[in-house]
Amino acid sequence: MATTKESADALVLFGATGDLAHKKIFDALYDNAKRGDLNVPVIGVAGDDWTIGQLRDRAREGINTFGGGVHDEKAFATLSHALSYIGGDYRHPATFERLAKTLHDAGAKRPAFYLAIPPSLFEMVIESLQTAGIAEGARVIVEKPFGTDLASAQELNRVLHKAFPESSIYRIDHYLGKEPIQNLLYFRFANSFLEPIWNRNYVDCVQVTMAEDFGVQGRGRFYEEVGTLRDVVQNHLLQTVSLLAMEAPNGADAESLRDEKAKVLRAMEPLRPDDFVRGQFEGYRQEDGVAPDSDVETFAAVGLCIDSWRWAGVPFYIRAGKNMPVSATEVRVALKPPPQNVFDERMSADANYVRFRLGPDVVSLAFGIRVKHPGEAFAGDSEELYVMEQTTEDMTAYERLIGDAIAGEALLFAREDEVEAAWEVVDPVLRDHPAAIPYKPGTWGPAEADALLAEGRSWHEPTS
Ligand code: BG6
Repeated sequence: MATTKESADALVLFGATGDLAHKKIFDALYDNAKRGDLNVPVIGVAGDDWTIGQLRDRAREGINTFGGGVHDEKAFATLSHALSYIGGDYRHPATFERLAKTLHDAGAKRPAFYLAIPPSLFEMVIESLQTAGIAEGARVIVEKPFGTDLASAQELNRVLHKAFPESSIYRIDHYLGKEPIQNLLYFRFANSFLEPIWNRNYVDCVQVTMAEDFGVQGRGRFYEEVGTLRDVVQNHLLQTVSLLAMEAPNGADAESLRDEKAKVLRAMEPLRPDDFVRGQFEGYRQEDGVAPDSDVETFAAVGLCIDSWRWAGVPFYIRAGKNMPVSATEVRVALKPPPQNVFDERMSADANYVRFRLGPDVVSLAFGIRVKHPGEAFAGDSEELYVMEQTTEDMTAYERLIGDAIAGEALLFAREDEVEAAWEVVDPVLRDHPAAIPYKPGTWGPAEADALLAEGRSWHEPTS
């Protein structure tokens, strides 16, 4: 992708000894090194009193455990040589003075600061970067969760803007770095046959399901703070819907695309409690770090309206949950039936549809159509025209996103107005909502979610 800016000339990784670096970031940097794309020094910063040897071991262990494994020692050596480490308290100016000196010695003038640390530390770190005189000309990379509601997201944006203009802020939503999500965007705007039907005249409803066949995987404490609506709906799934529903951008540059996404997000009507069904899998309350009377949802289903010329009256149903029967993320755009039942047949309501499988293992695109049985009668079956894509784990989301942030390509990062507009959609129901309804692990969540759909419609259940 064409870059809009100069490349950063150093990557500073705050939280280098933490979980995110261990599980995702080192693996992504190693993959970048394998492609020959890791050309900047990587300066790890954290509170632990570690040696660089310990950090290198941790990186190797993280890649072996959570990534594809270290199979290319030359690439790992590139990463090892690029790495250095500053152990120091974020509260002490000396930590940032050492960082400033390290950057100066490396000749770096445009570092990228990756804040892989809790958001509560952002303000302190950003102010210290300014005091140390190293914020100017730099860019900053931040992770989800970007706030816990609209007010806290606005506050985080205020803190970031104290030192960085919006054009230097890269907010990671790793879904945007996924190949199938990019396929979706490409499919919509690289084909002409879709446009005439991609609107309220032909689309009956849109469903997005993100099902995971596992629970909270030891992350009970984290999950208690978020719940499904904050964890994946406000970000990954509303971003997915914005790509599905947006108008054509003027071009493939970051601002044109993000302008159109932001418009759709702003046109989404804020959710009301009746639009939201919450579920909790049985056994969640026994997880480590979970309150014995927790009401946090591990399943969320919402019915959403987009008040725009294109989509007025078309419901968008979004559903996400842990401990579902399968792991699958799927979008299904159901078309209205033909205006007349010429062959006098009983057909399912959504015989015509477009189905995008976004993962995890299979990435595909399929069209639902009716075809006639051979024989005398005008009777037929519902079939799928299946367009299989290769399974594209060619480049992981983090590898792509970190590479883009270093290169200065902002297309796949969420802009301030998008993030805040998405919070505005969910904000009214973050606290004012119905109680979570228990469901059995391995099921599609509480039956109450069916009532969100208008009569004649049902949830589509992706298969594994
Ligand atoms: C994360 C959520 O953002 O996305 C997790 O915190 C979720 O709860 C994960 O499991 C899903 O992402 P992926 O890439 O594993 O499908």
